[in-house]
Amino acid sequence: MKDIMTAPFLVEMIRTVTNMYNHGWDERNGGNISLMLEEDEITDYLDIHHVCREIPIGFEAPDLAGRYFLVTGTGKYFKNVQYDPEKNLGLFRIAKDGCTAELLWGYSDGGRFTSELPAHLMSHMERLAVDSKNCVVMHCHPANLLAMTYVHDLDEKAFTRTLWQMCTECIVVFPDGVNVLPWMLCGTNEIGRATAEKMRTARLVVWAQHGIYGAGKDLDETFGLIETAEKAAEIYMKIAGLPLKNTITDAQLHELEQHFDVVAREGYLS
Ligand code: 13P
Ligand code: ZN
Repeated sequence: MKDIMTAPFLVEMIRTVTNMYNHGWDERNGGNISLMLEEDEITDYLDIHHVCREIPIGFEAPDLAGRYFLVTGTGKYFKNVQYDPEKNLGLFRIAKDGCTAELLWGYSDGGRFTSELPAHLMSHMERLAVDSKNCVVMHCHPANLLAMTYVHDLDEKAFTRTLWQMCTECIVVFPDGVNVLPWMLCGTNEIGRATAEKMRTARLVVWAQHGIYGAGKDLDETFGLIETAEKAAEIYMKIAGLPLKNTITDAQLHELEQHFDVVAREGYLS
């Protein structure tokens, strides 16, 4: 067996988590990531027949039976992942019953996966139904997006249009827009179901007064998605309250749509 610390998926996960911490998006244990892996990505590094522990997940994920996930641990600090990946991360397979995690590696101090596993796995199921390449669900607490949920209308169309108007590239990066959930209790199956439902139509879901979820094909793309939305929210928070002299017009947003060959969420542009 090769050393798992050299596995590309683990190296990339550690780099991403560290980068997110350095961006200030993940204070204390804030944030969590799940990365879906193919069996042949891990067989050089782990004996997939050796299950260290079985952990009930508390909901049903039948579509994910047999799938492998690398997931941050609950209560674990992103800041510390690079120093002790085996304690702060875990790699498990969803058992045939669809409601048990078969731990193959990690959570070495007896810990377990993030408390937001419902939002992660339910979102994976929804995103896979619309995009078979989706492998990542990422949650964090970026300050400007969070701040925006205190001062901006939470209507999804209004929220999305504001972000599109803040930076030229936003409509290119997230033409599907941003969906928004009102404040809900986190770490529950209910917020998991609500998040997954919102994931049907957009890869970004804001949790008002809490943070954001992003989904994508790999860690880099998903990070970039959140990074772009957060930059737009930063511009908004700098100009909110100031008299607006210029904006990106709908005609210009249509120009971007055509030039970059993307389709803006239906009904969001006039
Ligand atoms: P976990 O430590 O359980 O991952 O929770 C962090 C968080 O951001 C909750 O929304
Ligand atoms: Zn959170």
